[in-house]
Amino acid sequence: MERTLAPPERRVARVSGIERLGAYYVIGAEDASGPEPQPGQFYMLSSARGWGGQRDERPYLPRAFSYARARASGAGVALDFLLEVVGPGTGRLAGLAPGDGLCLVGPLGIGFDIDAGAGRPLLVGGGIGAAPLLCLEEQLLEMGEEARVLLGFRTAAHAQAAALFGSGAAVVTDDGSVGRQAFVTELLREELDADPAARVFACGPPAMLEAVRALCAERETRAQLALESGMACGFGACFGCVVPTREGYLRLCVDGPVLDAERLETALFPGAGH
Ligand SMILES: Cc1cc2nc3c(=O)[nH]c(=O)nc-3n(C[C@H](O)[C@H](O)[C@H](O)COP(=O)(O)OP(=O)(O)OC[C@H]3O[C@@H](n4cnc5c(N)ncnc54)[C@H](O)[C@@H]3O)c2cc1C
Ligand code: FES
Repeated sequence: MERTLAPPERRVARVSGIERLGAYYVIGAEDASGPEPQPGQFYMLSSARGWGGQRDERPYLPRAFSYARARASGAGVALDFLLEVVGPGTGRLAGLAPGDGLCLVGPLGIGFDIDAGAGRPLLVGGGIGAAPLLCLEEQLLEMGEEARVLLGFRTAAHAQAAALFGSGAAVVTDDGSVGRQAFVTELLREELDADPAARVFACGPPAMLEAVRALCAERETRAQLALESGMACGFGACFGCVVPTREGYLRLCVDGPVLDAERLETALFPGAGH
């Protein structure tokens, strides 16, 4: 079975910029010596200072983040991460400033299989799950393939992330403040009605991914799902990220995080989701 190998080191990248984008943050970082990642891969991030060990600091494990954009920069790579603050780790990262150190391990995991077959690429994102679809859209364009991008967000503040994509992205929201009031899977159903031969790449909350999986199974459409589970190490050592599949339990950090939907009974795993 295809597996990634853990890169041996934790590097300290330099934060190049951080900006608010509606409900999210975009963090730019200069990884001076790291390899270029592939869409769907992720990094384990922590801040170089104030991450734990000192008095009144909670000891943190690093947190997992898909990269959203990457471009070659000198001998390394300039990375952008799209981040939603949901707890202490993401809160600390959102408080970084340009020039601060950002510890990273990566790129990790197996990303999207971009060469997988014919058919127009349909990129389906829910909330912060838009992050890995951004670099995927860019890479497909470089290969001469124009993807159809479908995005669902909770509110208009979250939907500001859609501005990072090409102008043709279709957006719906839970409250109807941008686009129509609908789940993104309604857009997916309409697209598959019009073009059953499309190939689907999706990332989002577990309930959305389960709806995508079920819809694509019904249509016999190939779907690749970028999944989440709690990750303590990111490189196969702790088994904290295991998910049940038709082939037994897999570690999402080394066997995923992108899995072919047909390998899953369900994309709703115990304990998943926020
Ligand atoms: C492969 C991968 C890629 C990711 N990419 C991104 C990204 O691009 N941008 C982004 O903002 N976040 C991303 N995440 C989620 C991010 O790792 C978590 O939100 C983060 O670890 C939360 O840390 P915290 O200390 O702020 O909150 P915590 O206190 O750790 O958690 C806050 C809440 O979120 C839940 N939670 C935390 N982590 C997860 C998880 N992995 N799955 C389900 N529920 C969780 C907890 O149960 C809790 O309810 C990704 C996760 C994975 C596994
Ligand atoms: S996160 Fe430790 S094995 Fe996957």
